[in-house]
Amino acid sequence: MPGLPSLFLLLVNLVFFALYGAASSWAADTEKPYSVTAERLVNADAEPGNWLSHGRTYSEQRYSPLDQVDLSNVNKLGLDWYFDLNDHNVVEATPLVIDGIMYVTEAMGTVFALNAKTGEKVWYFDPEVPPETLVKACCQPVNRGVATANGKIFVGTLDGRLIALDAKSGTKVWEQITTDPTQAYTITGAPRVVKNRVLIGNAGAEYDVRGYVSAYDADTGEMDWRFYTIPGDPSRGFENDAMRAAAETWTGEWWKIGGGGTVWDAIVYDPELDLLYIGTGNGTPWNHAIRSPDGGDNLYLSSIVALRPDTGEYVWHYQTTPAETWDFTATQPIILADIEIEGVMRKVLMQAPKNGFFYVLDRSTGDLISAEPFAKINWASHVDLVTGRPVERPGMRPVDETRVYIEPGPGGAHNWDPMAFSPITGLVYIPTVDSRFIWQKDEEFQYTSGLWNLGYDISIPFDYPAVGTEQRSRSYLLAWDPVTQRQAWRSDGIGSGVLATAGGLVFRGTGDGRFVAYKADTGEEVWSSYVQNRGVGGPISYAIGEDQYVAIALGRGAATMRKDVVPYPADVPHANRVVAFKLGGNAALPDYIYTPQELRAPPVEEINIETAAVGRKVFHRYCFACHGREARGNRIQPDIRFSDYLDNGFWDDVVMDGILSGVGMVSFADAMSPELSEAIRQYVIMEAQKPVNSSFKQDAGPVQ
Ligand code: HEC
Repeated sequence: MPGLPSLFLLLVNLVFFALYGAASSWAADTEKPYSVTAERLVNADAEPGNWLSHGRTYSEQRYSPLDQVDLSNVNKLGLDWYFDLNDHNVVEATPLVIDGIMYVTEAMGTVFALNAKTGEKVWYFDPEVPPETLVKACCQPVNRGVATANGKIFVGTLDGRLIALDAKSGTKVWEQITTDPTQAYTITGAPRVVKNRVLIGNAGAEYDVRGYVSAYDADTGEMDWRFYTIPGDPSRGFENDAMRAAAETWTGEWWKIGGGGTVWDAIVYDPELDLLYIGTGNGTPWNHAIRSPDGGDNLYLSSIVALRPDTGEYVWHYQTTPAETWDFTATQPIILADIEIEGVMRKVLMQAPKNGFFYVLDRSTGDLISAEPFAKINWASHVDLVTGRPVERPGMRPVDETRVYIEPGPGGAHNWDPMAFSPITGLVYIPTVDSRFIWQKDEEFQYTSGLWNLGYDISIPFDYPAVGTEQRSRSYLLAWDPVTQRQAWRSDGIGSGVLATAGGLVFRGTGDGRFVAYKADTGEEVWSSYVQNRGVGGPISYAIGEDQYVAIALGRGAATMRKDVVPYPADVPHANRVVAFKLGGNAALPDYIYTPQELRAPPVEEINIETAAVGRKVFHRYCFACHGREARGNRIQPDIRFSDYLDNGFWDDVVMDGILSGVGMVSFADAMSPELSEAIRQYVIMEAQKPVNSSFKQDAGPVQ
């Protein structure tokens, strides 16, 4: 029975609401936390104070309608709080903010819940991923974030589990293993929630897996449906008509090595059309001439596929790179928008995949509206708007021992890095790279279960003459007009994912360790703050009380299972942390202290050049993902050019017997002979003996 005191409280609340209701309508409602319903997700745009799903709303525009911070006052933006994360891996996460609580992930699938106003820890969850899982993470372990529904937080773990946590306490509600643990699957992408189902893909197409996306009941964790992106063994029958049709586009015995096509990033939903869009990855092996020896487009690799969210049924597809052979995935972020093209409002889907073309599709039919190169490309001249197919330049396929020089490289003209769309400027902001690579078929290719199966010799030195002085990649933030398919502006330098705001600003972290704001229409840099680290993931904006916040999770580390390692010297230190800014914020980061790795003199041992050449090739198949191209290190793990194990007699204890497996350096005894291990040792000594000033430039290693 409601007594007097509660009636009194009700009145107070009513008065409070009358006074502050207007202000709190744009700020997060901290009174009703943990209750994100399917309806709230559909209407996420009406809650500018929150950041409820990966790209803020289902359209994944990464555009915040908050406009308190704008051009007139951005110079007053200051750090309000920071929170130090635990590990030293790359941080690719986009945090969510739900009613005053921020949820952010680290590489293995650990989750922090933080008070989004103060940065204080609310809870922490560690899924305890076994260290051996590192070997399955082609391009370093990463995690791009969580999803939410019905008081739960969903996270994928590096070892293939999907876990539901209680949003309030962080305790586990249910857990499902979504992949075959005996295969080289990992999860790096963020789950999405659509109509009470949690959608999750996986990664592993460098190894020997078959890609798919699955849907799990958000309450029970039971699997509802699974859509494979490529056909399996035809003799075992096809799961559906889409697989039967796709099998017509493959030749040889692709299913024996898995075939690839993993859905490791983009999963986007349009509530109005009730369609789900997934982006699919490259093939396994990478080399099409080996994967599908008698030709074929290899559906649905490198495609955008539309599915029915209730059943996983295929609706349409658009393949960006038929017969994909250069690691040109189409898993990259997808943005949905309604834009006017030639006087007509079109419901479009936009993607800037690795292959360097910016695609605008009609998202109800999958019809191509336009496609133009947004970065340097040489593999195709254009996309034929009638057939929808790229027109390849001759001689671009690495089908034999002839070396082929291709722009962009396997990292893509744009990778997973979140891009943003501002409905105010009509521009898409794309983290872009002009890159190149030299491809040569591996004539001795032999399938090895559970390891990289590329079908290329990727040990080819970068100083190959054709590359000339242009060998280094050039990164920039590109503002692209999707209607005219032209550049509006660009700002040079490598950086993180992007956020656009109604304040006329675009935010990103930069390679020199700053968090930067640009004028959205011209690209003029209008504000920056040194944050000691390179941002990689996507920045967000949210509001609490009267304040708009702009935040980013920072960290450009590299594969490690250890939380106590001291990062090695690099341009920018590696404090992984979340930083949150607001107008008038006046917090300061602590001084960063780091101890450089001791650079011991190289072993004096004389090496055999031919043995080292063999070692170079094996190194680039088995080791470079974690130890860097040309053994240049990855800034977090010991740079093995300076390792005592090179000449202390314990090399094989590490490489073959796995004495360091507890920290993620597992035994490679199953993959290679002691002779090959010795060849790698000689190769690394060769790299170590190069003059320090030419070789010391430490490499950040590949990013998926
Ligand atoms: C999946 C990632 C991964 C791969 C692949 C990998 N390593 Fe490692 N390696 C590690 C980690 C993690 C450590 C330990 C780092 C630490 O101590 O925290 C390590 C340590 C080492 C060390 C010891 C360095 C020292 O001085 O402490 C050597 C030597 C080494 N690796 C050689 C190799 C060779 C050779 C290969 C290829 C056959 C290889 N690694 C492949 C992750 C990897």
